[in-house]
Amino acid sequence: MSPIDAFNDRVLSLGLARVSEAAALACADLIGRGDEKAADQAAVNAMREQLNMLAIKGVVVIGEGERDEAPMLYIGEEVGNGDGPGVDIALDPLEGTTLTAKAMPNALTVIAMAPRGSLLHAPDVYMDKLAIGPGFPKDVVNLGMSPRERVEALAKAKGCKPSEITVCILERPRHQEMINDVRATGAAVYLIPDGDVAGVIHCADAATTGIDMYMGSGGAPEGVLAASALKCMGGQMWGRLTFRNDDERGRAAKAGITDLNRIYSRDEMVTGDVIFAATGVTDGSLAHGVRRRPGYVETQTVLMRSKTGSVRRMSYRAPVA
Ligand code: FBP
Repeated sequence: MSPIDAFNDRVLSLGLARVSEAAALACADLIGRGDEKAADQAAVNAMREQLNMLAIKGVVVIGEGERDEAPMLYIGEEVGNGDGPGVDIALDPLEGTTLTAKAMPNALTVIAMAPRGSLLHAPDVYMDKLAIGPGFPKDVVNLGMSPRERVEALAKAKGCKPSEITVCILERPRHQEMINDVRATGAAVYLIPDGDVAGVIHCADAATTGIDMYMGSGGAPEGVLAASALKCMGGQMWGRLTFRNDDERGRAAKAGITDLNRIYSRDEMVTGDVIFAATGVTDGSLAHGVRRRPGYVETQTVLMRSKTGSVRRMSYRAPVA
């Protein structure tokens, strides 16, 4: 492979940060305006424009949906200037459209990049997710366990009582039984209204976030993005696609998935080196939101590389008239 075609993650990661920064800046004016679609579209436009400046032969494998329902950044769209390595791109231009529309915390722009063929082409269906941070024996918890068994196994591995474990779960009626089961062990539940990419990432730094485990179902595309981040920061994650109807099963078939019951580990969702960037749109636990100050605007981006396990927090400040 010639150097120009190599996955130069060191250099590309800085370009990736620019992509997520631009998306956050573009949708900042739409925070609190009650218009999810407009906020998402602004982030999409900016992400695409920046992606097309990068020296890559990129293909969107996790994007805004199928070509017929997403005019831009659709699954299969080619991005980049065509000069560099072949890469897979997973993106969620605005993770937390409702959070943004309602000016609630934790909205992010999110993107991951990896060598061509190394990201799971997850269809837009739900995924059952389970994640824990680094430092535990392999498979100490698994998707086959009940919520109680997961809490007890993790507490044992951590050397603490179940009541000292905190589990992050999306607040949805479908999760009520799971929430009750977790609480019945004595463990605490950290409920989030949206944004399970950040929810999973929290597990990677339990000492700071206080969150030991993530569980529950959410978007499969977000699952692959979360697995990318966890591959950089360390931690274990598992995901199993779930299907509500034949249309969703058809989406899986189109994405080349034949075993509909397969449980994917983190490294099966992301098989190669990956880089990941997320920029705060509204203030959140991962990054602060876009800040407008007299004369300038500032963003904060978390940028990670799996090859080195490096995690950067980057501030970007640009003058505004
Ligand atoms: P959007 O920003 O696309 O609305 O996604 C927000 C989110 O909370 C994701 O983080 C999560 O994976 C998914 O929605 C959960 O889906 P649902 O709202 O249908 O439970």
